[in-house]
Amino acid sequence: MRLFGALLPAASALALASPVLAQGVSIAISCGAVGAELQFCSEGAEAWARETGNTVEIVSTPNSSTERLALYQQNLGAGVGNIDVLQVDVVWPGLLGDHLVDLKEYFDEQATAGHFQQLIANNTVDGRLVAMPWFIDAGLLYYRADLLQKYGLEPPLTWADMVEAARTIQEGERAEGNDRFWGYVWQGRAYEGLTCNALEWISSFNGGTIVGEDGKITINNPRAIEAVDLAASWVGDISPDGVLNYDEEAARGVFQSGNAAFMRNWPYAWALSNSPDSPVNGKVGVLSLPKGGEDGKSTGVLGGWQLAVSKYSDNVEVAVDLVRYLTGFAEQKRRAIEGSFNPTLSALYDDPEILAANPFMGELKETFVNAIARPSGVTGGKYNEASSAFWNAVHATLSGNGDAASNLAALERDLIRLSRGGRW
Ligand code: GLC
Repeated sequence: MRLFGALLPAASALALASPVLAQGVSIAISCGAVGAELQFCSEGAEAWARETGNTVEIVSTPNSSTERLALYQQNLGAGVGNIDVLQVDVVWPGLLGDHLVDLKEYFDEQATAGHFQQLIANNTVDGRLVAMPWFIDAGLLYYRADLLQKYGLEPPLTWADMVEAARTIQEGERAEGNDRFWGYVWQGRAYEGLTCNALEWISSFNGGTIVGEDGKITINNPRAIEAVDLAASWVGDISPDGVLNYDEEAARGVFQSGNAAFMRNWPYAWALSNSPDSPVNGKVGVLSLPKGGEDGKSTGVLGGWQLAVSKYSDNVEVAVDLVRYLTGFAEQKRRAIEGSFNPTLSALYDDPEILAANPFMGELKETFVNAIARPSGVTGGKYNEASSAFWNAVHATLSGNGDAASNLAALERDLIRLSRGGRW
């Protein structure tokens, strides 16, 4: 998915002027709580409440995207309107769209023009705009710049380079007495985050995207097999056995406390790693993820979150106004500067304050431009089943439960069945 296709002037990013709205309304918004997400969401929503004379109720949701989806499906499936505004993953529009308000009625073309058009397309299901883009994510490689220097190493370009550097640093740091030090931490738990990590390995070896854009199941191929077997070889070597249960925050905990050389994570980890109380403050660099060999490519999976309004809300118009505020220029800028959340408004990538706070947003623009989309569009309402079949097959391989060749062959059969032969 290409994100920077339409670079548009800042003015077009301005949302429509709010119509006269009810006041004194209470709007419940569900926010993620990964890192400082909840705090940022709550600050933004409270600012809107003060400006408009309404109140907000912040509903915290589980960190795991998979658990959050289950909660939403339960809530929306029952047709309950107790959450007005929902924070929606980039892979969910096809899964949840039926329960969400068509925002086209509220955001005209001018109001959506400043956002990456690929996200607007992603969030449009059967002609209905079911969510507004809020921030984008791409998988990144964090590294300890001070340790690379200490051991005379260059930032790695391929996985082989990374493994070698990770091993050198791990051995060196352990020899100096830190026996809790690891080379590489990432997200290996059986959940959506593993789908992202594994798709990155596979794509870096040019091994496709699990399911092609035409619906064909492509996962059972030699490059994908090589990539997943490679990752399995890290477990217990440069990565702890516990990585099989790591999510984003678990990986960040190890890296930020100074106990890992490399970490795969999303942009939010930048601001936190460099916060004043972080032991690695000022020691961290960010690269795009390594290539799968010389003829492989550097990739990062496209992630990110949208804001949607529940069809079951009693206050749709006021809820839409909150979405307009939070996804607008000023709030996206604040979140980018203070929390390193990548904006979805393309003009903000030219903002000097944002680039000064987050050099990687400019330097790694290509990583965001060429971020690999998960196959959620083509699999639609079956995305979660397809993704969970994938992460389970990968998790089994990482756990030493069968090799990638047999596990991906079995996965191929499961996906053929699930998709009724690729028709989805
Ligand atoms: C991040 C991404 C999201 C992804 C999730 C997986 O929150 O933004 O798209 O699904 O991580 O853990």
